[in-house]
Amino acid sequence: MKKNFFVNQPLFDNAEINVVQKIIQNGLLSSSNINGGEFVQKFEKQIQKYLHVKHAVAVNSGTSALFASLLSLDIKTGDEVIIPSFSFSATASAVIATGAKPVFTDISPSNFNIDPSKIQKNISTKTKAIIPVHLYGYPVNMHEINEIASSNNLPVIEDGAQSLGSQYYDKMCGALGTIGCTSFYPTKVITSGEGGIISTNDDEIYDNLLKIRNHGFNINNQTTRLGLNFRMPEIEASIVSIQLNKLGNFIKIRQRNAKLLSDLLENYIDIPDINSNIVPNWYLYTVSVHNNRSYIVNFLKTHGIHSAIYYDTPIHLMPFYSQLVGPISLPNTEVAAKEVLSLPIHQGLDIVDIEFIADGFLQALKN
Ligand SMILES: Cc1ncc(COP(=O)(O)O)c(C=O)c1O
Repeated sequence: MKKNFFVNQPLFDNAEINVVQKIIQNGLLSSSNINGGEFVQKFEKQIQKYLHVKHAVAVNSGTSALFASLLSLDIKTGDEVIIPSFSFSATASAVIATGAKPVFTDISPSNFNIDPSKIQKNISTKTKAIIPVHLYGYPVNMHEINEIASSNNLPVIEDGAQSLGSQYYDKMCGALGTIGCTSFYPTKVITSGEGGIISTNDDEIYDNLLKIRNHGFNINNQTTRLGLNFRMPEIEASIVSIQLNKLGNFIKIRQRNAKLLSDLLENYIDIPDINSNIVPNWYLYTVSVHNNRSYIVNFLKTHGIHSAIYYDTPIHLMPFYSQLVGPISLPNTEVAAKEVLSLPIHQGLDIVDIEFIADGFLQALKN
């Protein structure tokens, strides 16, 4: 039977199945306690340790994590937030949901991440935060971003939806800014189906986040500020807690697969350029294809290799956003959108699979 290779695929075993069964049997599926249920609290402690942060708040998606983070900083109508356009649309929609305006900023072609040198000119008196995205799991140049942020007295929210487990110098992504957000959507390196986590070292932000997650309730169930229902259910917390124990191993397999693919493709294509101070989680292995990208995608597909394009339309060119912000020029973003292609390297693939994928890709190039 022909094998199919997808860019990402969740990987579970009996550990996840058993814990889900246990929760279904005990019937405690969620908790409106300000601190969350048993499994939520356990998972938050695990993440705090993993990221080396003071606080973690589990929520029901990466989008909720971003939106709650913006609310915790009191970002509202009339404010502006600096973000890249080369990202998933949730980076922008979370800003819009607060009433604030996203200010799209171009990327560096070397790592597809927001270009720190383009940020300062986009800062105005209305700017209230910067959201860099660690796209594909490649860490943003956070030293430069934090320097710009602190000289303008701005908080930084890391959109780390794709970067759990990535390292920048001696720190984890998610522990590099004022607030870190990640996602556990099924395409991510570890998943709970849906889910997200917010990390911070700031006590006041943490206190706000606990209330925002749960209807604005204080400890006496009195609504003391705007809050919604962003709670992570217990089943999701129990699954992702087990997945987190596997993350180190998943990343090791991805590193091995990425290195092998780079060795096999090196002479033929621009392979991802990783400097020695960062360790990506290899959420995506993304190359730039200067010609005939759609031919390559279709050729690979006929061989069961399902490559993916993240993102062929940058956010500022999507109908809703182009109406909102009007015509703007982000040349590096627009080139990347035409050229990027992600190839499968996930933890379910072995060396023979990667050799097959490299071979298919080189054949597509030759044709
Ligand atoms: C960069 C980025 N930001 C935000 C999100 C939103 O996360 P979620 O799908 O968990 O809401 C995602 C992804 O799925 C993402 O890739």
